[in-house]
Amino acid sequence: MNNKKSSRIPGFFKLNSDEKLKIVQEFAGLTNKELEIIEKGFLDSGTRDKMSENVIGTYPLPYSIAVNFLINNKDYLVPMVTEEPSVVAAACYGAKLLRDDGGIKAESLENLMIGQIYLIDIDNIEKAGQDILKNKKEIIGLGNSKKPDLVSLGGGVRDLEIKVFKNNNIGDFLRVHLFVDTKDAMGANTIDTIVEAVAPLLEKITGSKALLKIVSNLADKRLVRVKGVVKKDTLTTKDFKGENVVENIIKAQIIAENDIYRAVTNNKGILNGMGAVTLATGNDWRALEAGAHGYAVSSGRYMPLVKWNYNDNKDLIGEMTFPIAVGIVGGVVQSNPISNLSLKILNIKTAPELACVIVSVGLAQNLAALRALVSEGIQKGHMGLHVKLMGKDD
Ligand code: MEV
Repeated sequence: MNNKKSSRIPGFFKLNSDEKLKIVQEFAGLTNKELEIIEKGFLDSGTRDKMSENVIGTYPLPYSIAVNFLINNKDYLVPMVTEEPSVVAAACYGAKLLRDDGGIKAESLENLMIGQIYLIDIDNIEKAGQDILKNKKEIIGLGNSKKPDLVSLGGGVRDLEIKVFKNNNIGDFLRVHLFVDTKDAMGANTIDTIVEAVAPLLEKITGSKALLKIVSNLADKRLVRVKGVVKKDTLTTKDFKGENVVENIIKAQIIAENDIYRAVTNNKGILNGMGAVTLATGNDWRALEAGAHGYAVSSGRYMPLVKWNYNDNKDLIGEMTFPIAVGIVGGVVQSNPISNLSLKILNIKTAPELACVIVSVGLAQNLAALRALVSEGIQKGHMGLHVKLMGKDD
């Protein structure tokens, strides 16, 4: 625990990058060598050639630190990789506003990835379903036998579920979901290994063909819930009264709930921050975004991901439940030295803790965007920095 260190660092943005690096070094206990890796953004050819194909170089992006995050009473400096000006400043500001009432509360509700197998060309779909359920133990056992290391860590296939899809122009088909605890890994590769191993057994049991065997990126069994309160007085500035800002943020919420054109932009703003941390920690931000939009429309109507409302004191309360599959081991997380250093800066020990931080950043990001939108406007409040940096108004 680094609960003695505060991430509330007024004036951090005014420091030069050496001064910022020094603060991060002290906060996270980084060695000089580690600082150099961050500063140079170095990825040797051996490492990068293993990460992708036809590699001829690397593409640099700014690596930033968001301050002020207090999540479950722990202070975090949050690494963010983004090309968009103002995103990091907005995250810091949102985190500062949420800090005044004790910071963000975050909890991981479940940590299961979903593996899918779609079975087609089935004569009797009801019987096929029953036969799968009868053989559930054997199917789960086969899946687990392919991942003994995961099982020995306490993870593995936990359960299986079927769903019948009727009256399609390819005939009836059956979906098998395997729910897998991938522990501290994001787990897509693990899932793909398991579903590919289990598919021939399902074909044998049902006399069908397993057409698709793959992870689902709608990780709605891997949910994180975050909550934060902003006191109305905290939102008061020389130009705006806090209670009006609260009222207008709630009105903006209702607009987004009623119009997908606004809701998508609202959610894009949330993902600005979440994607930047996901990238900085070597995780799959495309999976994050796909899952976010799928979850946003899971009620049948595309909704804003954060829900803002009044609490009993007429202060602003924001809540978000978010499907998030991220890891701290495996894949890029470990092969890219900078991703590893991001985890060190975050002082994170488990994948659910990382997920809690990323979703908390989404909450702060949305708060900062909405506050700017309903008060001085985004051009001054958010894009103002962009104009300053780029020297042009676009
Ligand atoms: C810009 O990248 C993100 C915003 O448009 C988000 C929003 O409108 O809520 C500012």
